[in-house]
This record gives sequence, structure tokens and C-alpha cells, in this order.
Amino acid sequence: MNKISENYALLAHNTFGLEARAAHWAEFRDTEELRSLIETCRTNRWPWYVVSGGSNLILTGHFPGLILHPTGSRITLVEPTLVRAEAGVVWDDLVAWSVERGLGGLENLSAIPGYVGAAPVQNIGAYGSEAKDTIETVEYFDTERLETVRLSSSSCAFGYRESIFKGPLRGRAIVTAVEFRLTPEQEGYTYNIRYGDLHDRVTLLGGPSLSHVRSAVTAIRNEKLPDPAVSGNAGSFFKNPVIPAAQAEALKSQHPDLPLYPTGEKGSVKVAAGWLIDRAGWKGFRSGTVGVHPRQALVLINLGGATAQEILQLSDQIIADVESKFGILLSKEVNVL
Ligand code: EPU
Repeated sequence: MNKISENYALLAHNTFGLEARAAHWAEFRDTEELRSLIETCRTNRWPWYVVSGGSNLILTGHFPGLILHPTGSRITLVEPTLVRAEAGVVWDDLVAWSVERGLGGLENLSAIPGYVGAAPVQNIGAYGSEAKDTIETVEYFDTERLETVRLSSSSCAFGYRESIFKGPLRGRAIVTAVEFRLTPEQEGYTYNIRYGDLHDRVTLLGGPSLSHVRSAVTAIRNEKLPDPAVSGNAGSFFKNPVIPAAQAEALKSQHPDLPLYPTGEKGSVKVAAGWLIDRAGWKGFRSGTVGVHPRQALVLINLGGATAQEILQLSDQIIADVESKFGILLSKEVNVL
């Protein structure tokens, strides 16, 4: 039986640095431990929620149920290019592991905070890559049928920061492991360095290699994004909104420097939310305990002692202002518990 802690402080388990407590907290290493914890939840009628890195999370107060925290941290090579990582592996440790072994596919996703178990839920992405590009299978525990399920990538309904785990399987599935199909770094390997100034940064380091891409991405992120140990934050607070192409064209004629990205679907375009918030005048904004990061307007920060309510109030103000100025409704990327 796993140890269940009572009245557990969550401050160290969310990168926003919010004070919150859970009625109960337990760690699980594998499916058997998870099964017994879910049975305990059923018996006691406790709600449950998984917190791994807590890097995309706003904790609004006391959680009345059981917080489950994955600790399984094995990385194994199932086949020469198929890597299996348990949910409790720190994401960037997996990226480092693969780059050290000359296996490509994850290098653009360097230095993203969080654990492997969250990667398919969010379909984490950066610098032109997304987790879905390499995920082959996701293993999860079905808390209704109390059994492990292996879902192939094509059944995960992956989209931009979206998946089946945020949709129909929300509140039902707990990711326990993920398998990634990687590509050996050899002659002909296609490095994905077209995004922003990544190409120039990699060239400065001596040209494309997995470790140079990893170093360049890590350096760019460190320059732009605040260190949660200094200013609590959850990375991008908002998603980049997808809008009709006609609306994007009209906006672009008024604002020629508006950054637009293809969505892969005709008739819709993705707009840089950071640009919209910046242009609306919020970059570097500070009010009491909360603010907007001075180097990246997409990131809200805890200036010290902020509450979830203060952060959400600031985000509501930004959403309303961007809507009135550009006619675009921003939606949150962070999870609110
Ligand atoms: N921009 C501004 N002002 C700002 C911020 C951005 O004008 O304050 C402009 C930039 O100049 C650029 C464009 O907006 O032209 C896009 O900015 P950036 O390249 O910094 O990327 P992003 O769209 O703001 C997304 C992801 C990040 C990811 C980066 C790099 C989302 C919501 N965010 O940010 O992901 O690291 O691209 O690929 O998709 C995260 O999800 O937590 C995250 C940090």
C-alpha cells in the first residue's frame, strides 16, 4: 500500500509558486500502485488529479481529493530507435538521453519543464516540433475499467496543445509511459532549424548537430523565458489563437508585422498571441504581486506571493483588452485546478 500523506503542501509542486494544499497526496511508480490508489479513491469517494512537474498549472486553492504524483523514471531502448520512458521521467532528461545517444527527434523540445507523462496530454511543442511527431504509443491506466491501455499515436487526436487526454479521456486516463520513434543522427538527417533565429544560432555553434540544436534551443529559451525559481510562471499562459484566414488578412493589412503561422488547414491561420499582448501594451506590466514578463508577453509571472485569483484576474484583463483591440479571443494554455 502506498503511503498517502494528508493536508499536503503543493507549493514545491507548481512552477507558478502558488500556495495550495491537497487533502491527500500519494506517489506511484507503476500501474499496480496506481490501481490500488484509484481503488482507494473509489472507496472514499475522493476526486483525483495528477500533478507531475506542475509546470502548466494554476492551483486555485484547497484540493479536496488525492493528488497522484508519478515517480517511475526508467528510460529503456525497446528497439534500436524506439525509446520507452515512464511518466515520471523529467522531460529534459529524456531529451538529453536521446541526444547523447545520437537519436534525433526530440532536440527541438529541449529545456521544456515538466515530465514525460504530460508530453502527450499537452502535445508539447516548440521551435517547429511537437511531441506528436515522435510519439508512437501512449500507455495509460484507464481508471474506469482499471486496466492498462496502449494507444497508438494516430488514435490520440493530437492537435496544437491538444489530445484525446484533454478531451474524451480527461478525468479517466492517467498516462504511465510513452514510446517515441526516434531517428539516428547520420548523414542525411533533417535538422528542423527553420524556426525564428534557430538556424543562425546553430551556425554560430559550428553547424547542425543534435547537440548544437539542443544547446541553441536551450539558450534561446533561457534568454526569453523566466526561471521559475526567480519568477513563478507556467510558460506560455495563452495559446496562439487560430483564426479564419480572411480575418488574418484584414489584420495583416493593418499590421504588416503581425506574425502568422500556417495551421496545416486551409482557411485558418495561427496568430502569435505574444505579439497581440505585446502590441496591446501589456509587456512588462506589473501590478502588485503579478505581471507580464518583460521579454515575452505570453508569460504571466508571480512577482512574489501572488494568488491564483490575482493571476486569473490579470489574464481576464488581458483577454478583454486583446479582444477589444484586435477582435481575437485568447484562450488559456494553462490548466486551472
Ligand atoms: N512576439 C512579440 N512580443 C512578445 C512575444 C512574442 O512580438 O512579447 C512575437 C515574436 O517576435 C515572434 C512571435 O511573436 O514573431 C512568436 O514568438 P515566439 O517565437 O517567442 O513564440 P510564441 O508563439 O510566443 C510558442 C510556444 C512556446 C514555444 C515557442 C517557440 C505557444 C502558446 N507557445 O511561443 O511554448 O517555446 O513558440 O517555439 O504555442 C509553452 O507552451 O509554454 C511555450 C513556451
